[in-house]
Amino acid sequence: MKIVPISQLLPGMFVQSVTKQTGRIKIKNQGWVKTQAGIDKLKKAGILEVEIDPDKTLTESVPEKQPLDIPTPIKKRDPWQKVHSAEQEMGKAKKLYDEARTLQTKAFKDIKAGRDIDITPFRELASGFIDSVFRNQDALACLTQMRQKDAYLLEHSINVSILMSIFAKHLNIEKDIIEELTTGALLHDIGKIKIPDEVLNKPGRFTEAEFEIMKNHSLFSKEILEEAGLTGIAVDIAGMHHERLDGKGYPFGKKGEEISQYVRMASIVDVYDALTAERVYKAGMEPIKAFKILKDGCPDSFDPVLLNKFIQCIGIHPVGTLVRLSSQKIGLVTESNPATPLKPVVKTFYSAKHSRYTEIKDIDLASKRTLDSLESAVKAKEYNIDIERFYKNTILS
Ligand SMILES: [Fe+2]
Repeated sequence: MKIVPISQLLPGMFVQSVTKQTGRIKIKNQGWVKTQAGIDKLKKAGILEVEIDPDKTLTESVPEKQPLDIPTPIKKRDPWQKVHSAEQEMGKAKKLYDEARTLQTKAFKDIKAGRDIDITPFRELASGFIDSVFRNQDALACLTQMRQKDAYLLEHSINVSILMSIFAKHLNIEKDIIEELTTGALLHDIGKIKIPDEVLNKPGRFTEAEFEIMKNHSLFSKEILEEAGLTGIAVDIAGMHHERLDGKGYPFGKKGEEISQYVRMASIVDVYDALTAERVYKAGMEPIKAFKILKDGCPDSFDPVLLNKFIQCIGIHPVGTLVRLSSQKIGLVTESNPATPLKPVVKTFYSAKHSRYTEIKDIDLASKRTLDSLESAVKAKEYNIDIERFYKNTILS
């Protein structure tokens, strides 16, 4: 094989691949360039350099049957017209989320009835989450924000699991380990099913005695997973997600190096989701406030390096957050822009200035064509916005 600049490409040469270009062309079929016109077309499409197979260069006529397939150049991504977007992934993500709910509900019933849980479907679900996160993490991330107030235990475990897979992907952890982390996170609070309902569902603060009872849940989770045949990381997450670096956590009072990086990750994600959760008796905290509380807990409770990475990965205005723009438009963050975290894609649907719903529009705040900017996160209640309806009719439809 030989690499040649496009200026040296001649009719009759066999092109193996494109090695340098200004655009994003993919040669569908390798083959001979037949004519100078074909070469000119490649030049025009931004091809700068190609790899040729000198052994196949033809000196006479070029066979008709194997022409070089010159595809139409792929247009550069127009922010107003998304290519592989969160919207495209949403259908699959929603299906996975629904499967997770069904699976969790069944597992709760099994534990209550004294049966062991079957780990296989949880592993499969974790793997489905990971695949979705790798295709476009924004879809599942968005679903973690669409909570039902009365389904905390169910949704918290699912959300922690999704956030764990996003966090682990951000940290470039290998997929096998991400699967362990995601499975462990899905089941980390399963032991709560063994806590009496009056304690588990008590709104507000626990008494000291109630807290002592509640503390048993992570030990129960560990036992349940071990009985189901799990070992290693997943069991550690279930048993130790309430341990704290200064040794003041529970159930074992482990500290510092005794707490693995994986468990440290889980404890950050667990607290973040608990703080931002909307409950019957409390409004969900804005992510930025939750980050502040987690930061205040560093380094006594949480690992500051991992926390910074988590904030970087989730973003100050995570996907699913309701925000107000400088134009007073209100919308939902639907896609993250990792290069410019303060400039995500926002789906606007309400005008704060005119107090009315507007036409739905995707605004990419990172686009040079956009003059708008993100002002702050807001609560749907402040504007009497029916966010559930918006989710149902727009995001999930
Ligand atoms: Fe827990």
